Amino acid sequence: MAYLVRAEPLSQGFRSAHDVRRADPVSDLPLISATLARAFQDDPVMSWLLPDARQRAARLPGFWMHALGGLHGRHGSFFTTAAFTGAAVWDPPGHWKVEILQMIRFAPAFVRIFRIHCLRGLALLNAVERYHPREPHYYLFAIGTDPAHQGRGIGASLLAPVLAKCDGERMPAYLESSNERNVPFYQRNGFRVMREISVPDGPKITLMRRPAGGG
Ligand SMILES: CC(C)(COP(=O)(O)OP(=O)(O)OC[C@H]1O[C@@H](n2cnc3c(N)ncnc32)[C@H](O)[C@@H]1OP(=O)(O)O)[C@@H](O)C(=O)NCCC(=O)NCCS
Repeated sequence: MAYLVRAEPLSQGFRSAHDVRRADPVSDLPLISATLARAFQDDPVMSWLLPDARQRAARLPGFWMHALGGLHGRHGSFFTTAAFTGAAVWDPPGHWKVEILQMIRFAPAFVRIFRIHCLRGLALLNAVERYHPREPHYYLFAIGTDPAHQGRGIGASLLAPVLAKCDGERMPAYLESSNERNVPFYQRNGFRVMREISVPDGPKITLMRRPAGGG
């Protein structure tokens, strides 16, 4: 299979469980987007932005294609498993903020996908961006495991390569959790709750930071 031939090694000394590997942000994008779409089908934020479950299932793959390809494709590090059962996308220090030009390019797709609720999306983006740490850090933009494979350690394996890098470089990590259910999972991986935020009628978002050198 093509993806096995292309598989890139992880950093030296890092042993991967679940065959986690670096993914190609272009050729692996469709399968990664499909996996994240399935993972986020019941996510509180996605359910708020796309309340109709059928529309959500139909539009989430396109959302991830645009968000990952257009906004995080240039700098982001993409990880997946051999069978695309999960995926994670990280931005390196200094690159968490989406540039204005990228936002302008993304805007038509954003409106097409979320329609009137793109206004909710903008309100939420503004709210979380206010608290985004300004210090250098690795930013977990997205992580998801296919629902049929959740709870088997794939999520932790997807986090591990960049968390090991954070430890090696003594660099903090940061994420915004869109689901309260995930907070203990992130805490087990060294993240600590910084703050909880919400927008009117919206879901709660938990902002979490992992200190340099691990939790
Ligand atoms: C959060 C997520 C990536 C974890 O991946 P995973 O492969 O299930 O992770 P692991 O097996 O390493 O860890 C399991 C832990 O994840 C958390 N978790 C969150 N949602 C879960 C679910 N639906 N099923 C199982 N575990 C879940 C639990 O804390 C669980 O620990 P527990 O078994 O002690 O309850 C995955 O559950 C997922 O894709 N959820 C939907 C999308 C999402 O919420 N992404 C993150 C947005 S911030």
